[in-house]
Amino acid sequence: MIGKLNHVAIAVPNLVAAAAIYRDALGGNVSPPVDQPDHGVTVAFVELPNTKVELLQPLGDNSPIQGFLDKNPSGGMHHMCFEVEDILVARDRLVSEGARVLGNGEPKIGAHDKPVLFLHPKDFSGTLIELEQA
Ligand code: CO
Repeated sequence: MIGKLNHVAIAVPNLVAAAAIYRDALGGNVSPPVDQPDHGVTVAFVELPNTKVELLQPLGDNSPIQGFLDKNPSGGMHHMCFEVEDILVARDRLVSEGARVLGNGEPKIGAHDKPVLFLHPKDFSGTLIELEQA
């Protein structure tokens, strides 16, 4: 069911510093940062030949990644995102297998203007999983 790895997301306390190290030390192709107030994050993408790294810095008072950074002050891997063909088919299969979908269980429009869902990390070896309809 899962397809391509769309991105790996890293929560960072300082997006400018994180973007600089990906660009200057790793030689990555890093996009300019974009504020996404609806998602409570500022995002920059590192474009790789086969996938992306998404650098996330909290934006505003109720950022969904602030708690993660409180526990991991220097940053860390926050989630990874797999593409699926049909997000509702994927959700129904996951629920029937006992996996927990976060929030109200309905897809939201994600950072790439496509429907996304998040799955409970306790059901996936301690890793928050995002599904995005490709
Ligand atoms: Co993501």
